[in-house]
Order: sequence, then C-alpha cells, then structure tokens
Amino acid sequence: MKVRIKKGRFAEFSCELAVVNYFEDCQDLLGMAAQINEKSVGLIEDLLKAGDFQGKLYQISLLYTRGNLPARRILILGLGKSHEFNMDKLRGAYAKAAQHIRSLGLKGFAVSTDMGLPERDVQYVTEAIVEGVLLGLYQFTPFKTVDRDKIKDVEEFTIVEEKEKILTAIRSAAGTARTIADAVCYARDLVSTPGNELTPTDLSNKAREIAMKRRRIKVKVLDVGDMKELGMNALLGVSRGSHEPAKFIILEYSGGSKTDPPLALVGKGLTFDSGGISIKPSEKMDEMKSDMAGGAAVMGTIRAAADLGLPVNLVGLIPATENLPGGGAYKPGDILKSLSGKTIEVINTDAEGRIILADALTYAGRFKPAAIIDLATLTGACIVALGEHVIGMMGNDDKMKERIRQAGEKTGERVWELPLWEEYQELIKSDVADYKNAGGRPAGTITAAVFLSKFVDKYPWVHLDIAGPAWQSKESPYIPKGASGVGVRLLIELLRRWTNIKGD
Ligand code: BES
Ligand code: MN
Ligand code: ZN
Repeated sequence: MKVRIKKGRFAEFSCELAVVNYFEDCQDLLGMAAQINEKSVGLIEDLLKAGDFQGKLYQISLLYTRGNLPARRILILGLGKSHEFNMDKLRGAYAKAAQHIRSLGLKGFAVSTDMGLPERDVQYVTEAIVEGVLLGLYQFTPFKTVDRDKIKDVEEFTIVEEKEKILTAIRSAAGTARTIADAVCYARDLVSTPGNELTPTDLSNKAREIAMKRRRIKVKVLDVGDMKELGMNALLGVSRGSHEPAKFIILEYSGGSKTDPPLALVGKGLTFDSGGISIKPSEKMDEMKSDMAGGAAVMGTIRAAADLGLPVNLVGLIPATENLPGGGAYKPGDILKSLSGKTIEVINTDAEGRIILADALTYAGRFKPAAIIDLATLTGACIVALGEHVIGMMGNDDKMKERIRQAGEKTGERVWELPLWEEYQELIKSDVADYKNAGGRPAGTITAAVFLSKFVDKYPWVHLDIAGPAWQSKESPYIPKGASGVGVRLLIELLRRWTNIKGD
C-alpha cells in the first residue's frame, strides 16, 4: 500500500474516488465538502436534501460525478457530531471508508486533510487518516492458497493539498504514521502466525532480522545453555514440557546519548500456551497462539522507534517459550528457583506468564533502566474485569502511569488502573517457597501483578495486562477480528513524549 502526497486542489484532482467528510451537526458544508459541492453543481447538497445522508459517524454514501468533477466518484463520509469528534473516530471513519473502497474493488483513492474544523491540526489529522486507512485495510493472508486472486487490496491512496507549508507538515506526519502503522501490522502478523510456524526459535530469528536491517539496533539471543548458566530456572521450568527450546531475546536500540539509562520493555513471549499439566479447555485454545502479543508489541515498538529515529535508549526483553504438557513438563507442586534467587511454588502450570516474566524482570535490572514497562497477555481475569477493549495497568510509579494513561487516550489504546494494595500480598504467600504462582480466583489480575512486583527491585515499573485487547473476538473500525497489535501505538506515543519525562 502506497501513501502518496500530491500538490494541487482537491476538487480538481483526477482520481477514481475522492473522500469527503461531513459532520452530522454542521448545517453548512465545511472545508473540502464546500468546494466539491460547488464544483459539482450541488451534488452533495442534493444528497443531503434527499434525506439520504445525515453524517452519522461511519455513515457512507457514494456519489457518481458524471463528468462534473475530475474525480469519478465521491465517497461522503459521516464523522458524527462535531463536539463528540476525536482522532480515534477519525481513524475509525477512514478505516471504514477504506474498507468500503476495497470492497468496490478500487485500487486507489484521494483524501484531503481539510475537515473544515476551526482549529485545523494537520499533523494529528494526517496521522489519524493514514493510520486509520493502513490499520483498517490490514488482512492476514499468507496461509490462504485457494482463490488468492479474489483477495482484494487497495494499492494506494493520495493526500491532496494545495498549500506548500501544509504539504510539508503532511509529508512528515504521513511518514510517521506509516512507520507506526507498519509496526502495528508487523506485530499483528507475528500474533496471527500459528504456533507451528512461529516457535521461540522463529521469534528469535525475527528479532535478529529486525536488528540486521537497522544500524542502531543490536540483538542477542540467549539459548538454553546460556540460561542454565545464568540460573534462569523459572523460564526454563516453564519450557520443559516442550521439545522447542526456549529463547531469551534481547534487543537494544540506542537512539539516545550513551549516558542515558534505557527504558526496558519486557514482553511475554509464549508462542503457544496450552496451560501445560493444568491444561486449558480445548475451546478457543487455538487463540493461545496469541500469548506472545506482549513480545510482538515490544518488537514492533523497537522497530518503529528505530525507524522514526526517536532519541531514546531502549532495551527489549522477550522470554520466549511454549507451555506444553510433555513428559518433562513442570508440575503443580514443583518449586522453581528464579534468576533472582527467589523461589516459586507452582500451584497452576497455566499461570506460566508471570513465571517467565519473573526472570525477565530480574534480567532487566542488569541495564540499570530508567524504568521498566512490561506487556503481557497475563490473565483471563483481566478480560472479566475490563473486557476486550481496555488494558489493565498496575505499577509503582504514578508519573509513568499518568503518562501511559495520556498516551492511551491519544491513541485509543486505553488503560485502566487496578490497585496493588497491601491486602493482596497475602494471596501469593506460599507455605513452602517464597511465593506461589497463583492466588486463587479473587483479584486474579492484581495477584499476578503483585507476583511480578517481587522481581522488579526498586525501578519505576508499570505492568500492562493486554489479555483483553491483544485478541479481538469482533472487528472494530480499524482493528480486525483476531490480532490487534495493541501496545505498539501506545508505547510509541509514550516514547514520543519521553524526552519530557526525563526532564521531570
Ligand atoms: N495466557 C493466559 C491468559 C489469557 C487467557 C490471555 C485468555 C488471553 C485470553 C495465562 O497464561 C493464563 O492462563 N492465566 C491463567 C492464570 C490462572 C491459572 C491463575 C488464567 O487467567 O486463567
Ligand atoms: Mn497460561
Ligand atoms: Zn499464558
């Protein structure tokens, strides 16, 4: 998919289809809609008068210009009520428009960033449009072999703008949004790829590939031997039930100055989670190929940070393994000695994420990070508590949490905080080891985070439970059914503000 930027008057641009926006509550035609209407001798006014189009959010009408305009068709796109409008709705609207255009079998279309809003913020609007289109058109097709020629794909879209100064802003914003959207789609691809095609070894090779293509990214992969030597027996314990060797992936991006402590991003990397001996029910077990979505988000973020040249230092840590009930598998009752030296009693082998993250969080300390953020599809309880559109957030640093909350509002990858109060500590105490890995049904998301906190040391730390948003049971405007790529846009937004955080 190509994003082109062209200088010229939108109403005079020749194309198969031009997208024009309309707010439900604006009597007058605004921005480009007015120009197009005038040029086309009242085409849009006619549609409105007929009562066929109100401008409701995501509403779409198609008009044929019959030679009155260089554009062959106009897609008029409802943006809803102007006072309820935000960038997330804009992303969604353009995703919907792009999907409609794809279903028509068209190869290209044109858009304008002139929404006729009083404060026209070209950067935000451009980013939202480009992200909306690219994320909305995502499809995962590498394993489809039958009727491949029937898969429809839009090849390009063009942003048309007359004014030179605005063009410059559009060019830069479109480039940024493209890089970010590509990284989100990259994460979606990793998450969609099934366990047989994406083992821990495959995932580590993907990390190698990311580093190979980028000068400022270094990669190191610890194998089972390295991990034994270090004493990463928590991660190794989880991996014992599988024939696939575990990998510990380390990605380092140096975009900041040498003395800047890095931000550590830790991502859960279960390439498949069967539950192990505490095996999961078979219904929807296939979806557990997505249990590396945290790892995918970390890889996507580091890739995008490098491509954008963000002035920060990052370390990405991804403990990668399968959780299977093979003959050598770890068992309920087993006690594992983690890298930190602390011991873990295994109550439930399906609470494996926190076990492998324990070693990764300890390892993060080696980098003396400015802060640690972990992303994990950690608990089903988080889906029960918050549903599939919200990230559960817990942590020990109010400033970081506030920044992440703001980044969530801006990107639509919203977070909601759950408490880590004293009373919860009780629930993970073990009779025979330092901690147990499952605290029972009450507050399942919180007890998982309390467990993680034991391995964090004194660093500012935020845990993001993405079990809900990582995998979607239904599509929404710019997120398909299945893998969402959640976390990439959130973290990149946070990093774009990171320079300010350091100054706090
Ligand atoms: N990967 C799962 C959590 C999960 C479940 C993510 C459903 C997405 C959808 C995790 O490893 C797990 O199995 N957690 C257990 C913990 C319990 C045994 C304490 C859970 O949530 O049931
Ligand atoms: Mn599990
Ligand atoms: Zn899991």
